[in-house]
Amino acid sequence: MKNLSNIIFTKPKFTGLPSAWVEHVPFAFYLIEILKPSLFVELGTFTGASYFSFCQAVKQLGVSTQSFAIDHWKGDFQSGFINDRVFQLVDNINRNHFHEFSKLLRMSFDEALPNFENNTIDLLHIDGCHTYEAAKHDFETWLPKMSDRGVVLFHDTQERVGDFGVWKLFQELKLTYTTCEFLHGHGLGIVCTGKHVSQDFIEFVHNCDENSFSQKLFAALGKLAASEKYTSSHKAEAGKQPVLIAKLYFSQADQNFSEINSVYSFCAKNESELMFQITSNEKISQFRFDPLENYLLIKLNDIRFYHGVKPVFASYQLSSNAVYVVKDVFLFSTQDPSFTISFREPLLIDNVIFNVEYLETGIKTLESMAEVINKLKTENELLQQKQRSYYQMFLSKDTRSDDLDGELQKTISRLLILHHSRFNQLLLWIEKSIKFVMFKMIGRKK
Ligand SMILES: C[S@@+](CC[C@H](N)C(=O)[O-])C[C@H]1O[C@@H](n2cnc3c(N)ncnc32)[C@H](O)[C@@H]1O
Repeated sequence: MKNLSNIIFTKPKFTGLPSAWVEHVPFAFYLIEILKPSLFVELGTFTGASYFSFCQAVKQLGVSTQSFAIDHWKGDFQSGFINDRVFQLVDNINRNHFHEFSKLLRMSFDEALPNFENNTIDLLHIDGCHTYEAAKHDFETWLPKMSDRGVVLFHDTQERVGDFGVWKLFQELKLTYTTCEFLHGHGLGIVCTGKHVSQDFIEFVHNCDENSFSQKLFAALGKLAASEKYTSSHKAEAGKQPVLIAKLYFSQADQNFSEINSVYSFCAKNESELMFQITSNEKISQFRFDPLENYLLIKLNDIRFYHGVKPVFASYQLSSNAVYVVKDVFLFSTQDPSFTISFREPLLIDNVIFNVEYLETGIKTLESMAEVINKLKTENELLQQKQRSYYQMFLSKDTRSDDLDGELQKTISRLLILHHSRFNQLLLWIEKSIKFVMFKMIGRKK
């Protein structure tokens, strides 16, 4: 790897929202530096994790690259359906940071084709729908647009679940083109379609096998980029507040929850209503609400269901994987917090509104944990005192078969057990989280 600046070690700035692409950000920086593309196009941008990484490098390196992000911003059946908020967010970031050289084209990939001359694109990133047929279609329709120094990237070459089929297309392309593949971060395939790709890059591709230095370097840097995901400086351009992303899964009858039946909603931290539009005409029997992919302290004020404009009043059971619940405040010690809402009978619902308050998110949740622990400790001590005084009272009595006292004692013991197990769970979690924070701090110092 020749003549590189420190760009590959730069902290990603726009990866604060969920994306399966984050582990490739350092490589995106590298690509811009080594290829210096005049024209870069991305098919499939979603929240912009990949696209803005390329843009960040273009800006930082001062390379003259015209960039285009193409997406209809509707989502798809593999990555989930999205609402308008995603586009607004991406558009704001683009206007505020990269408008001099970057344009968003909100349309289908096919519709965007006439906007580009043949033999002009130096770097193309294909990350739309990941079935074999869709990826092949995107590659074949955009290939004529590639310049003689053209390089095409495919994300998800290692993803083999369901109908993901980029891996199969990539196997085929390997027979015709000079290629290499990163195995981490769901796989990133690199295909040199041009006849005159930079010699330095061709050399890199030839040397990038499974155990090579570059494979290991970018995998390690990718992990670091992903671990910094939630502490990145990505701010919500809408409102300059951190944007929270929530997801709602819906299921009919006995179906399992899946990405096909899911929708996103975005929320600035100071907003309280999360609205989900459901893309199904069938009756729904269960929802799973994932408020955030991180530790979380949340207040769930209200859930409202609608069919069209009509409210749907239904009784349901609410459960969660929270470690501690006080009334409508839920504390999650997992990075996959979720609520499950089960209806007695399936219902026609096409809009759901959650009124929530995100009280603490991420590592900051730890601080509020200390308060909860102290509260629990006090409660625990009070209960123990009560139990001791109860025994003293009990032992001082002549008879030991007082029913009321027996019930009281059982209740106190039950409460104690409950509190103890919660308390231990919390302690374990705190210990784990502190280790995690220490690990990150030590990592940073190095
Ligand atoms: C996997 S996501 C892209 C992820 C993104 N590169 C990242 O860094 O997180 C796929 C995106 O492609 C878009 N998409 C899929 N097929 C499309 C098509 N034919 N035309 C336009 N957009 C499409 C979806 O709206 C979705 O936002």
